[in-house]
Amino acid sequence: IKIAVFASGSGSNFQALAENVRDGRIHASIELVVCDKPSAYVLERARNFQVETYTFSPKQYASRQAYEEEIVAMLQAKGIDLIVMAGYMRLVTSVLVEPYYGRMINIHPALLPAFPGINGVGQALEYGAKITGATVHFVDGGTDTGPIIAQQAVQIDDQDTLETLGARIQKAEYELLPKVVGWIAEGRVSLDGRKVTINN
Ligand code: GRF
Repeated sequence: IKIAVFASGSGSNFQALAENVRDGRIHASIELVVCDKPSAYVLERARNFQVETYTFSPKQYASRQAYEEEIVAMLQAKGIDLIVMAGYMRLVTSVLVEPYYGRMINIHPALLPAFPGINGVGQALEYGAKITGATVHFVDGGTDTGPIIAQQAVQIDDQDTLETLGARIQKAEYELLPKVVGWIAEGRVSLDGRKVTINN
């Protein structure tokens, strides 16, 4: 399958995915990195893996829909089968969600439905939770509300800081996201309403 990764920042999740693809553990190809920040480090990582990049500046468009229309046209022209949101910090509209519903996933650094939105790591820490983790879910019209595909738990220790907990959650993400993308590449993930099944 052909994958497009959407990212806005460092791109360490892209890196983990690209390494798994390069090492043949995921039978897919990452065709494109879409990024809303022309200076994001993820673009450097994409170049290292010879992955094409598409960057855009949202403020140069009249609306969210306007740049999403352009992106959808490009994704369709490239025959993209799966969109992976990995640290993409923009809300999406139905322009992108409609055509890709069931073929667009996101990774979130908390155990949804707990702690959605920005700073999921800090929310869990502030709340005093004892267990948090990472979630991979299908993207729907809401924020971090789509059907859940897989989750991985991470313990919160008493002396944890945003940095130490964040690092541990990202380690879990680097395992969880490639695993889920691999399942999707093998056609093992089915979606029925909110129910997601991983078939053998
Ligand atoms: C990840 O922790 C992801 O869960 C969150 O943003 C972070 C992106 O990190 N949505 P990176 O850009 O993949 O390093």
